[in-house]
Amino acid sequence: MPAIKLILDGDYGIDDALAGLYLCHQPEVEILAVGTVHGNATADAAAKNALSVMDLGGRPGVPVAVGARRPLAQPVDISAIVHGEDGLGGRAPRLRSGREPSDIPAALQIVQTVLDHPGECTIVATGPLTNLALALMLEPDVALMVEKVVLMGGTVDHPGNISPYAEANIAHDPEAAKLVFESPWPVTQVGLDVTMSAWLGPQELERIERSQTSAGRFCWDILQHYLQFYSSRHRRPGCPLHDPSAALVALDPSLVSGYFSAPVDVELRSEINRGMLIVDRREFAAEGREPRMPHVDIVTELENERLISTFLDGLLAGPRTAQQR
Ligand code: BDR
Ligand code: CA
Repeated sequence: MPAIKLILDGDYGIDDALAGLYLCHQPEVEILAVGTVHGNATADAAAKNALSVMDLGGRPGVPVAVGARRPLAQPVDISAIVHGEDGLGGRAPRLRSGREPSDIPAALQIVQTVLDHPGECTIVATGPLTNLALALMLEPDVALMVEKVVLMGGTVDHPGNISPYAEANIAHDPEAAKLVFESPWPVTQVGLDVTMSAWLGPQELERIERSQTSAGRFCWDILQHYLQFYSSRHRRPGCPLHDPSAALVALDPSLVSGYFSAPVDVELRSEINRGMLIVDRREFAAEGREPRMPHVDIVTELENERLISTFLDGLLAGPRTAQQR
């Protein structure tokens, strides 16, 4: 089976770690590179977390690069309340391998990896989009050379989670998100509209709690802080699978049971709405009277039951990898 070549970019908080670990366990996946970014934790703490995840997932050779430490045009804002000071709910493991991050920044690592594998890479972005924007600035042609970008970020009809209309990954760097949505690469947007319904409830959590694998124990450990946050905020037990949903859609687009395609812009000016997605659903805009933006595939429905069971099966199975590079 030909490998699915992935570049992962994220802010390596709790759900990024779950997504990364799940991907490590998939034998058909070749993880070419991981980049980290400000968001759930600092980009440096996120890199330590990503290294731990790659080691635990049986991928000790995957390069992990520290990326943007701040957004393009606003002050940095770390979501410690959701993910803890270390990004993993106070349970970030000590890195046993002594591995260090790559000696190039994540944006350059994206460019080099894409140029080395033209037309072959899927980028799975699970944090603010600063590194992707910087990669586009370094080499705009990367947008023509990746297979697709699948990103967790934004919301269309669901309320925001950082302000009434904005989702955290977009609001943490709206200028970067705008550049990503304007660029001519195929983008699939997996936002709160679907990730808030991909909910890990008590039954699924019990599977993780009972798991005897090292992956299962790690996940149960880091989930405690996240569960407390989500259970109290949404008054129901459990938590949403934000970043894992994007990871699973990247590997298996048949999990998407509803989507539409439209140009997406990002609100930059209004203070209260900054980071809100502006989706152009007008039919007549397609008639060519206005400059056209690329169409983004906006996911509106997922096969949740299959997604959650596939996720848990893969996550808890442990590494079954063909890649030991
Ligand atoms: C997104 O923001 C971060 O807290 C999560 O890791 C996820 O990527 C959800 O809005
Ligand atoms: Ca994330």
